[in-house]
Amino acid sequence: MIVKFWSGGMRLVCELALRPLALVFWSILGARALDNGLALTPTMGWLHWERFMCNLDCQEEPDACISEQLFMQMAELMASDGWRDAGYEYLCIDDCWMAPERDSKGQLQADPQRFPSGIKHLANFVHSKGLKLGIYADVGNKTCAGFPGSFGYYDIDAQTFADWGIDLLKFDGCYCTNVVSLADGYKHMSLALNRTGRSIVYSCEWPLYLRPFHKPNYTDIQHYCNHWRNFNDVYDSWESIKSILAWTVINQKEIVEVAGPGGWNDPDMLVIGNFGLSWDQQVTQMALWAIMAAPLLMSNDLRQISSQAKALLQNKDVIAVNQDPLGKQGYCFRKENHFEVWERPLSNLAWAVAIRNLQEIGGPLSYTMQISSLGRGLACNPGCTITQLLPEKAHLGFYQWTLTLKTRINPSGTVLLRLER
Ligand code: GLA
Repeated sequence: MIVKFWSGGMRLVCELALRPLALVFWSILGARALDNGLALTPTMGWLHWERFMCNLDCQEEPDACISEQLFMQMAELMASDGWRDAGYEYLCIDDCWMAPERDSKGQLQADPQRFPSGIKHLANFVHSKGLKLGIYADVGNKTCAGFPGSFGYYDIDAQTFADWGIDLLKFDGCYCTNVVSLADGYKHMSLALNRTGRSIVYSCEWPLYLRPFHKPNYTDIQHYCNHWRNFNDVYDSWESIKSILAWTVINQKEIVEVAGPGGWNDPDMLVIGNFGLSWDQQVTQMALWAIMAAPLLMSNDLRQISSQAKALLQNKDVIAVNQDPLGKQGYCFRKENHFEVWERPLSNLAWAVAIRNLQEIGGPLSYTMQISSLGRGLACNPGCTITQLLPEKAHLGFYQWTLTLKTRINPSGTVLLRLER
């Protein structure tokens, strides 16, 4: 487990070397999300962390260590196996890609054994497959796994990433000495990326690291970041997925309204296709990540994935809910007996509804809903066509406002519906 390091004592304020032009530009931008024209719908792609972690042992485990070979193989598969065409565009490197030290010019460098051709070469390869390349760095003195941090090097690192052809930066928050330098660092890097002139999606963990000390100011965060992690790292387990959903429900009043085109809450990676979730639990993760307008960053092994998990991850109807251009995050509006009901407004007056069976014993349970209670009473007024998207597609037909709808849901599973007027 990674232990986040905080030292309360010394107050180290990171220098904000704002150029006047950037300031003018920033004030013109106005109020809403980071206006770099990116992430207008939630980012989709692949990120190595949950599945491959910090595996440095390419001798013993050549196929699982963090190396250019791993990313080139994933890039090939993303292009050849339908992932890119389904929308999974960003192939992202997480921690542990770096050499233990910066080079003589102070620049970050990839580990020469594991990335012998360098990141620029990898970016060219990834781009040749019609994909984009993401990379990882840290706002503090070290990354969470102990590699060089960007503190004191924000401008240099942003320029290095731009020169390499990087398209997304995941900026972690370990080893930052206090909340002032955390905020200043996240802002500084956002501006530094912007100044490079390259389009780089900016993925933050700012609120996650701030929360133990301060209530996050999401207006500030959405100004500077395209998405932001709020809660713990996802693990390949049902407990982990449940804890993320529970946290989201508890905090939804605060976080749902700040999400929108250009800025999203990030509940962390999709672990579908790994070891820890049953089929129904994988359906629940996919359905709820769609309702939450979450970035869809898979962390799995595309070389060995079941056709069932692949079909779930590539389900066009569910991806369409996640990527809906209205860009409103869904929320949980009812919890009763053993069920939780979530809904999300979609473009063209459509709605998505997810019903979770929270019971983890016994068999499938039936749940009956008043049609008039869905979509704030508006979704089916005077009537709507209902399609079940998950666990499998079914055209349920036309429902008038006065009717009820009965669903049957497996333990820990979810039924995802689309309602159209
Ligand atoms: C933190 C982040 C994870 C991952 C690791 C890498 O724990 O939250 O997503 O990036 O660091 O060390």
